[in-house]
Amino acid sequence: MSLRLLFLLPAGLPVRSQGESQSDNKQMDNITIRQGETLFLSCLQGDFVTHTAWLNRSSILLAADPEPHPVHIIVQVPPKIVNLSKDLVVNEGSNVTLMCLANGKPEPAIGWRMLSPSDDSLSSDSEVLEIPFISRYRAGVYECTASNDIAVDTQTVELTVNYPPSVSDGRDVGVTLGQRGVLQCEADAVPEADFEWYRDDRRIFNDFDGIEIEDAGAFSKLTFFNVSETDYGNYTCVAINKLGSANTSIILYEIIEPTSSTLLQAETASVLEMTSSDLEQTAFENNALLEGPGAVQDGNSGTSTVFTPTCLLLVVLLQLLLKF
Ligand SMILES: *[C@@H]1O[C@H](CO)[C@@H](O)[C@H](O)[C@H]1NC(C)=O
Ligand SMILES: *[C@@H]1O[C@H](CO)[C@@H](O)[C@H](O)[C@H]1NC(C)=O
Ligand SMILES: *[C@@H]1O[C@H](CO)[C@@H](O)[C@H](O)[C@H]1NC(C)=O
Ligand SMILES: *[C@@H]1O[C@H](CO)[C@@H](O)[C@H](O)[C@H]1NC(C)=O
Ligand SMILES: *[C@@H]1O[C@H](CO)[C@@H](O)[C@H](O)[C@H]1NC(C)=O
Ligand SMILES: *[C@@H]1O[C@H](CO)[C@@H](O)[C@H](O)[C@H]1NC(C)=O
Ligand SMILES: *[C@@H]1O[C@H](CO)[C@@H](O)[C@H](O)[C@H]1NC(C)=O
Repeated sequence: MSLRLLFLLPAGLPVRSQGESQSDNKQMDNITIRQGETLFLSCLQGDFVTHTAWLNRSSILLAADPEPHPVHIIVQVPPKIVNLSKDLVVNEGSNVTLMCLANGKPEPAIGWRMLSPSDDSLSSDSEVLEIPFISRYRAGVYECTASNDIAVDTQTVELTVNYPPSVSDGRDVGVTLGQRGVLQCEADAVPEADFEWYRDDRRIFNDFDGIEIEDAGAFSKLTFFNVSETDYGNYTCVAINKLGSANTSIILYEIIEPTSSTLLQAETASVLEMTSSDLEQTAFENNALLEGPGAVQDGNSGTSTVFTPTCLLLVVLLQLLLKF
């Protein structure tokens, strides 16, 4: 530790030091100061002294006198992190070692913790944080802290964990002829996945007539502006990144626009062939199918069809019960 600012005072001037009070003793105590502060050292002389000298261990700094009085100057230095792991991108399953070196006086205590997302189970009280077989859930910002009595220094490291895509199960979509239809695909991947859409084995591109493919982050959306008979079928969404790919299939099927009379006939016909337990099941499925968020359908047939089947079923049930 270098003492850059060392002011030397001739004998006889008042004894003064910053950082520690100093009595007018003949023998100076050890002095503790912080790096960068100014320190005044003085030496009281007896009556018969003719020369005084200030020395550090190796040199005479000021010469004047004989009898030596050693004074230890302890310079405190705030902690400073001097060597820190760089931001890191690894593949899931790698063994990760983060390192943080700091100096300071007194020797700083060094520790690691996971800052965001905050996870107390992931910390270390040493210069090194080891994470074996890292999982995607350990990706985030890690913080190294170096602290001593004087101050604290902190630095952060960002850890990115790559993993191959997984796609959510596609939900089939029912659309009435001539309406807008939207197929949605969601993929979880780092780095973010690129999407490809297929109709059976044939790749679909954005510039196809009446079709739009929109990718936004983890989502891809295939929109038919005006569904035609030939659009109904089996579509596959493939999500790809450099670590792998995954896919899901979505059926675009036809919904016959119901009029109130055809609906009543259809429901009545099917209900008559069912037992009462089948009926509950059907009512449940009807609701699930028509209300399900996967059944994206723009147009005017939405809300009315959602509730009608259940009401009709109840009416029909009542009629059945009345027969017994
Ligand atoms: C001053 O510091 C030296 C070296 O650390 C130590 O040996 C000595 O005991 C200390 N003296 C006092 C008065 O604290
Ligand atoms: C003593 O002072 C001299 C001159 O400033 C310097 O070169 C030397 O490094 C110092 N020695 C110690 C032990 O601080
Ligand atoms: C930081 O530490 C690493 C590992 O100990 C070492 O290879 C590297 O040279 C150090 N860098 C600096 C700037 O000290
Ligand atoms: C990770 O460390 C374990 C032991 O801790 C070792 O068996 C494994 O081979 C290491 N994996 C890699 C990719 O270095
Ligand atoms: C949808 O396509 C059919 C057949 O090509 C056409 O008759 C109809 O007008 C179109 N509807 C819209 C809203 O573009
Ligand atoms: C849709 O296509 C995929 C892949 O070609 C196939 O695995 C899946 O069984 C098909 N689904 C239906 C209902 O035919
Ligand atoms: C979809 O994934 C299955 C395995 O999960 C794979 O066999 C098939 O080739 C994939 N299809 C496409 C089009 O990538």
